[in-house]
Amino acid sequence: MKRYQTAVLGATGAVGEEILSILAERDFPVGGLKLLASGRSAGKKLVFRGREYTVEEAGPDSFKGVEIAFFSAGGGVSQEFAPIAVEAGAVVIDNTSAFRMDPRVPLVVPEVNASDLEWHQGIIANPNCSTIIMVVALNPIHQAAGIKRIVVSTYQAVSGAGARAIEALKDQVRAYAESRVVEPSLFPYARAARLYPIAFNLIPHIDIFGEAGYTKEEWKMVNETRKIMHDASMAVTATTVRVPVFRCHSESVNVETHRKLSAAEARELLSGAPGVVVQDDPEHQVYPMPLDGSGKDPVFVGRIREDLSIANGLNLWVVGDQIRKGAALNAIQIAEYLIEHHLLQRPA
Ligand SMILES: NC(=O)c1ccc[n+]([C@@H]2O[C@H](COP(=O)([O-])OP(=O)(O)OC[C@H]3O[C@@H](n4cnc5c(N)ncnc54)[C@H](OP(=O)(O)O)[C@@H]3O)[C@@H](O)[C@H]2O)c1
Repeated sequence: MKRYQTAVLGATGAVGEEILSILAERDFPVGGLKLLASGRSAGKKLVFRGREYTVEEAGPDSFKGVEIAFFSAGGGVSQEFAPIAVEAGAVVIDNTSAFRMDPRVPLVVPEVNASDLEWHQGIIANPNCSTIIMVVALNPIHQAAGIKRIVVSTYQAVSGAGARAIEALKDQVRAYAESRVVEPSLFPYARAARLYPIAFNLIPHIDIFGEAGYTKEEWKMVNETRKIMHDASMAVTATTVRVPVFRCHSESVNVETHRKLSAAEARELLSGAPGVVVQDDPEHQVYPMPLDGSGKDPVFVGRIREDLSIANGLNLWVVGDQIRKGAALNAIQIAEYLIEHHLLQRPA
């Protein structure tokens, strides 16, 4: 079986470390492996399949001979290095927002629009984590009844802001329990003019504010959903909120469909959908929760019920591990699809 020269740029981060563990778990055909980060982590040792690898500082020569490169080192780093990696012959699967809305770049969730991989030109974008989790749950409903409008509110875990954010929440909880002053850091984002504590708090502000009072995270959910679902007219509105949960994003999703779908029909559709696990038994208190979803692959859906305020409406509660399906796992599923369908080579 052919094995592929693989690189992970951002290998020391939350997403990069998860990519390494999923590559090992799924027995991905890794040949040579190059682990890249900034100069801060150069020389650090990481173990992959029992073998120690030394992290290197990413540079213009890092991608010689690389066939598949997973990028998760931030948008600016992707902008700089993705064209260099593609020029060197690699296919880049990028976890950042750098290329997601570029019309030349497919934005892919394999359960929804894998066929878009056929027209890639070297860079493939992995969507925003909250968007991936939502579209995996909504695609079966869209295929069956046509989604007209989505209203989503998110409850996003701190690890969505990177490995350091987990430590920040732990420090703040410890400080609070020991009656020390809780020093805010990193939230809503590291360089914000005002920082707020995340422990025992909710912050309705993820990424910077943009057009019409929406944050960039909210615009990502709107625009990326339309691109992935191939429906520019789909009405989408989002409110994104950071919550003091370590890992796993949750979302309250309201959809209006063109055709009426009962709660029972939606439950049945979702039960057979790829990548989805239905956890919906209110009588026995069964519904998805982030503590249960952490470290798992599927998107969990529960609280499926009709929205009684409109003719064709449904309410869903959706939970998914945003570092796995929302980032690392989705990227690796893309790479697996490329291999399986002989799409690693691009037309000359
Ligand atoms: N966390 C999530 O749930 C999630 C989900 C979806 C997408 N993403 C996206 O994935 C990317 C990474 O997120 P993360 O949560 O893994 O962040 P993170 O934990 O902060 O890790 C960042 C990684 O990027 C590396 N890096 C930073 N600056 C660099 C530079 N100038 N050159 C080379 N490497 C550099 C870091 O290396 P050092 O160790 O050297 O600093 C580290 O390996 C972001 O664009 C994020 O938006 C994250």
